[in-house]
Amino acid sequence: MKPEVLKTLRGAEDCGSGADVMTAEQVESMAGTRWAAGTVVYYPEADSTNVRLRHLAEEGAPHGLLAVADRQTAGRGRRGRVWESPGGSCIYMSLLLRPDIAPEKAPMLTLVMACSAAEGLRDCADADIRIKWPNDVIAGEKKLAGILTEMSSQTDRINHVIIGTGINVNIKSFPEELGKTATSLYLETGREVKRAAVIGAVMRRFEENYDIFMETEDMSGLMEKYGNLLINTGREVRILKPDSQYRAVAGGINRKGELLVRREDGAVEAVCAGEVSVRGASGYV
Ligand code: BTN
Repeated sequence: MKPEVLKTLRGAEDCGSGADVMTAEQVESMAGTRWAAGTVVYYPEADSTNVRLRHLAEEGAPHGLLAVADRQTAGRGRRGRVWESPGGSCIYMSLLLRPDIAPEKAPMLTLVMACSAAEGLRDCADADIRIKWPNDVIAGEKKLAGILTEMSSQTDRINHVIIGTGINVNIKSFPEELGKTATSLYLETGREVKRAAVIGAVMRRFEENYDIFMETEDMSGLMEKYGNLLINTGREVRILKPDSQYRAVAGGINRKGELLVRREDGAVEAVCAGEVSVRGASGYV
């Protein structure tokens, strides 16, 4: 058996064994990390783990604190959307970071988490899990996880960064409209996994990738593995700007985390996540 196959099966087995109990202690001990999720605050119910963590950050909570909820009553997605957050089957977690970097570099941390979530989920499940630029985690052409990063900063320094991640884990069905674009680990593999183990796997990957990111304070050291996980590469995409759109073929990312695209006239352009949205030529991916 090839070593990577062995690793996938062992990972899936580890994440699947035992009851799906989520407590702060369970998550901390399953992660076994140095600092990411070194302390966990667990809420059976929260409005939004990003909001809970922002309050804790303002009271001085440390780098690496992780807020986890079983369900959210006001889960928030990107671009002001709602993140549906039923209880008992998914992961809603927010990680507090206090990086000593310039505020304009912080959006790249979202890509670091996308890479870590994709890798951690691959460690737990035998599924072809990829990233849709910049930070959606995808399986079977549908969205498995989403990331919402929020920052508090002054002109030249960061007070804190909150990376909120929602992962569809054991959920067995979605409302009809959402089901067209959303999937879960269970729907992709037919297996339930233990959420605390999945969180641990993602946190271990994040800790490793964050160190690589901080060496250069950009995506230089992660570009290759991010690129290998990227589903857009070689595909036709629609670049949606606020007042126009165009078609192009996606390549990889550059060291700033921008997506490189080749326009129909052959010109290569780097597009920035804050300024454009990317869709597949005829659908979500
Ligand atoms: C997206 O729109 O893709 C981002 C979704 C982010 C959802 C997570 S769930 C944990 C954290 N708390 C929130 O309210 N949102 C993020």
